Amino acid sequence: MTNHVRPSLFVLLLASLAAGCSREATSAGMQNPPPAKVTQTPFDRLPDGRPVDLVTLRNDAGVEVRIMTYGATVLSIRTPDRTGALDDIVLGVDTVLPYTGASPYMGAIVGRYGNRIAKGRFAIDGAAFTLATNNGPNHLHGGVVGFDKRIWTSEPFSNANTVGVTFSYLSADGEEGYPGALKSSVTYTLTEKNQLIIDYHATTDKPTVVNLTHHSYFNLAGSKATDVLGTVLTINADRYTPVDSGLIPTGELAPVTGTPFDFRTPTAIGARIDSADAQIKLGNGYDHNWVLNRQGAGLVMAAMASDPLTGRTLEVQTTEPGLQFYTGNFLDGSLTGKGGRVYGRRAGFCLETQHYPDSPNHPAFPTTTLRPGEVYKTQTVFTFGAK
Ligand code: GLA
Repeated sequence: MTNHVRPSLFVLLLASLAAGCSREATSAGMQNPPPAKVTQTPFDRLPDGRPVDLVTLRNDAGVEVRIMTYGATVLSIRTPDRTGALDDIVLGVDTVLPYTGASPYMGAIVGRYGNRIAKGRFAIDGAAFTLATNNGPNHLHGGVVGFDKRIWTSEPFSNANTVGVTFSYLSADGEEGYPGALKSSVTYTLTEKNQLIIDYHATTDKPTVVNLTHHSYFNLAGSKATDVLGTVLTINADRYTPVDSGLIPTGELAPVTGTPFDFRTPTAIGARIDSADAQIKLGNGYDHNWVLNRQGAGLVMAAMASDPLTGRTLEVQTTEPGLQFYTGNFLDGSLTGKGGRVYGRRAGFCLETQHYPDSPNHPAFPTTTLRPGEVYKTQTVFTFGAK
């Protein structure tokens, strides 16, 4: 019985496949086949001639993420608004050159230590280390040539419902002053649920410090918007880490209650950004780390943002204990971005999931020390929506 049924089903299947193929063949001259969901193509060259590639991830909803091998940097993210119209929701530049100088880390992977380490100094087990200083007296975002300025090797992949790329970089012992050779990898995965998942992984051969993050500047209103003041933001944090004039945490975990740092209910980014609050003045706006509310380890909702005009939403979940919310206060119009757009002050906002700034000098903060035999493993999930 079964033996009879099988061949006939098989024939049906063949027939329907043939019909599908011929439909494609007839229309081939009129329309292009759908683009591959993951591709790697040449992008540009560095001034020294080294090639930089571009990896493009796409899903069935039309979401498209372009990432270059220089800095494992996200160049663009196209997502639908409430009418289904696709537009680019991150800031970036069309060529690699502007990323090689004193760039604002647009879309980059930041490391070995994202954020600041006071005076570029710290000690592990009594051994003192001095890092490159590149932000006044302090170390910022991995130093002069951080992970954002390295070419990463790339391995694109494709699974049933996801596509992605794993970028790897081996940071030498002593690079920018850090102890230990650090083997690091960052995997970007795009799902059919419009999520961009970032998995970070690292191991070391000597005790060191690690704090990797991603530095996209979002503007959910799309590529023609000028600022992010109207974006409505929620941050899941009862406390934040106040800073000194060099944006180094004082060590206090201060309650957000009654301050412009209280984003526990949805609030426009611009509502209190120019208030007389002393911390707002020090940050020149928002440039602070929030202490995320969490019970135990695992992914926690860190922030939600929505743009009233287009309806686009962004949710950020992370395994990290902190979130740096930065409102592009240092963007000054000197950078011309994609399509000739000039990026002025507050043209984008960053939600940098991370450990707290200057953790190596604050024993009470969650540790950023990584030892041989341990595995550094964190995850952040960006979910793109519209309402
Ligand atoms: C981080 C810092 C800011 C600034 C930007 C890059 O968000 O906290 O102070 O340095 O990176 O321009």
